[in-house]
Amino acid sequence: MDLTIRPRRLRTSAKLRKMVRETRMDKSSLVYPMFVMDGENKKEEIPTMPGQFRYTLDRMPEILQEMADAGVGSVMLFGIPDHKDEVGSGAYACDGIIQRALEKAKKEVPDLYYIGDVCMCEYTSHGHCGILKGDYVDNDLTLDKLAQIAVSQVQAGADMVAPSDMMDGHIAAIREGLDKNGFVTTPIMSYAVKYASAFYGPFREAAGSALKGDRKSYQMNPMNRREAIRESLLDEAQGADCLMVKPAGAYLDIVRELRERTELPIGAYQVSGEYAMIKAAAAADLVDEYRIMCESALSIYRAGAEILITYYAKELAQAMKKGDIG
Ligand code: PBG
Repeated sequence: MDLTIRPRRLRTSAKLRKMVRETRMDKSSLVYPMFVMDGENKKEEIPTMPGQFRYTLDRMPEILQEMADAGVGSVMLFGIPDHKDEVGSGAYACDGIIQRALEKAKKEVPDLYYIGDVCMCEYTSHGHCGILKGDYVDNDLTLDKLAQIAVSQVQAGADMVAPSDMMDGHIAAIREGLDKNGFVTTPIMSYAVKYASAFYGPFREAAGSALKGDRKSYQMNPMNRREAIRESLLDEAQGADCLMVKPAGAYLDIVRELRERTELPIGAYQVSGEYAMIKAAAAADLVDEYRIMCESALSIYRAGAEILITYYAKELAQAMKKGDIG
């Protein structure tokens, strides 16, 4: 057979396959999202997310230490408050759950990089990500609150803030708030492209969201691709330091398109529904959980993300250490 070009030559040994692989990643790019709550000595399993827990602050350092030991670079904290109100005041209270968590985390496990999720939905009695005027989430009233939340988190110790609210002008408002308070070096990772997605279902359960309706008047329509670019470029112009696409797995085309349109680092969030689906399929013995975990993660990097936010962060860090991916 006269065949000079044979792609299979580069697949003949494990060493060679590793040498010529196109996608590379490392543990420092992993972000672990986790939930903290008030109370004492509790580590509560989240029914919709097997293997994930809500921690009281006294139990939080043990999981943080596990992440640090595994080599995970960063943790993103979500607070579950005891009380919710119309204006989500628990989100920016200086003694709020997330502020106390950040303060304690920084002190007790300083090796990790801490990201605060800036949003109101866990803290509002109606479950929306902003201030309601009638049935509509009022954009401009919400902006002030977002800036306040971000400042309070950074004062408590957050290294970076990640606004997930999808309000117009949020990055400018938060940047101004941070700068006015002297935090000019604190970066913002914008959830620039956040779709109104069914993949968040298990998270809403986990965070005790009070939402009755939907978020379609602020989160994006899954049918849209150009709009994702528009949102990203707007946030970039307002001073976002990193951009995020969410969910990840069903939106890899968006990650790739963004990678070609911006020079900023791009994060992708493998959300609760993506995690829960792998867990459920594995529990039913339908798929090999470890291999699916690795493949779903590397696909997100291959699409162009530099940062991966995932509930599998620790297991992925271990897989990277073993050389199964990376
Ligand atoms: C809050 C927020 C949500 C998620 C992260 N931040 C939920 C939502 O928008 O309804 C989802 C994360 C996940 O599903 O893992 N604004």
